[in-house]
Amino acid sequence: MDTCILCNNLRVSFREHNNYAQVVRGVSFNIGHKKTLGIVGESGCGKSVTALSLMRLVPSPPGKIESGRVEFDGTDLLSIAEKQMQKIRGNRISMIFQDPMTSLNPVFTCGFQIKEVFDLHRGMTNPEAASSMEQILLEVGIPDPHRVLNSYPHQLSGGMRQRVMIAMALACDPKLLIADEPTTALDVTVQAKLLELLKHLQQTREMSMMLITHNMGIVSNMAHEVMVMYAGEVMEYAPTDNLFDSPLHPYTSSLLETIPTLDNKKKRLTVIPGDVPAPQDTPPGCPFHPRCSRAFQRCKSDHPLLCEVKPGHSVRCHLYE
Ligand SMILES: Nc1ncnc2c1ncn2[C@@H]1O[C@H](COP(=O)(O)OP(=O)(O)OP(=O)(O)O)[C@@H](O)[C@H]1O
Ligand code: SF4
Ligand SMILES: [Mg+2]
Repeated sequence: MDTCILCNNLRVSFREHNNYAQVVRGVSFNIGHKKTLGIVGESGCGKSVTALSLMRLVPSPPGKIESGRVEFDGTDLLSIAEKQMQKIRGNRISMIFQDPMTSLNPVFTCGFQIKEVFDLHRGMTNPEAASSMEQILLEVGIPDPHRVLNSYPHQLSGGMRQRVMIAMALACDPKLLIADEPTTALDVTVQAKLLELLKHLQQTREMSMMLITHNMGIVSNMAHEVMVMYAGEVMEYAPTDNLFDSPLHPYTSSLLETIPTLDNKKKRLTVIPGDVPAPQDTPPGCPFHPRCSRAFQRCKSDHPLLCEVKPGHSVRCHLYE
């Protein structure tokens, strides 16, 4: 496969009191050129920390990238100088966050903030930047770019703000777009429109994308491959169709059962019993064993390895070793 970014054995910890607890435990993946990798898993399983690590934005302290390699364009992003990383961040790799208000500055107009991205990475003249800004806003489905450029973030609806964020992320024509829950804060129809837009932009701009979400429905529609995370580890990794047609890991099956469908809408929504363990309380053996309906004796003591069981389809579970 023609690789855009490759992450190998990433380990990240956070300090709590005087101890470090690992929250990302040996995560590896590979996103192909023009492909989308979906990352799913319950809250706290390490999705955002994995994404932030690629951008080298893990807050440190309390966080620390302990080891791993992130290869992008032939360089290891985890070992280059911060100055070199600044040229890549927001330029060749950019990121969209769940809540635009955390990334948009309330005291500047949207136009000022988009122009800053152009100034920082492209060194455009004012008229060039003005025309590119209007163009990019039209591309993300903003019909009246002039008004939006002169507006402050609070003067726009949530959906519009998220479009401005997407425009900012695309301003430098990134090779990789990381979208961390890009639409969760929005209502369902706006969400659907924005996801279609992201899918369209990914294809027309030939970007690779890492899409983080809780929503299995969104992944099935957007991703070429899916990585299922639990307690900081990869539990299953597969081409999207394989994962949805024949999920192997009991955790993936449980996640799929939580998707509401027309058939089960009158029944109670399925929930996975128990809670995700806190990083410092991750149980020995398989971290999922206290919640797994198929657990057996060995699961309590032996940590399962991630094994490739079919081409491109890996699973971490003793049932398949
Ligand atoms: N700044 C931080 N300080 C301390 N611990 C953190 C920090 N950021 C993340 N963590 C811990 O790292 C673990 C993974 O967090 P992360 O944000 O990656 O989860 P997530 O999968 O993105 O969850 P969500 O779906 O809720 O966004 C969690 O246990 C979280 O408490
Ligand atoms: S290793 Fe055991 S506890 Fe873990 S998912 Fe597989 S069957 Fe369940
Ligand atoms: Mg997150």
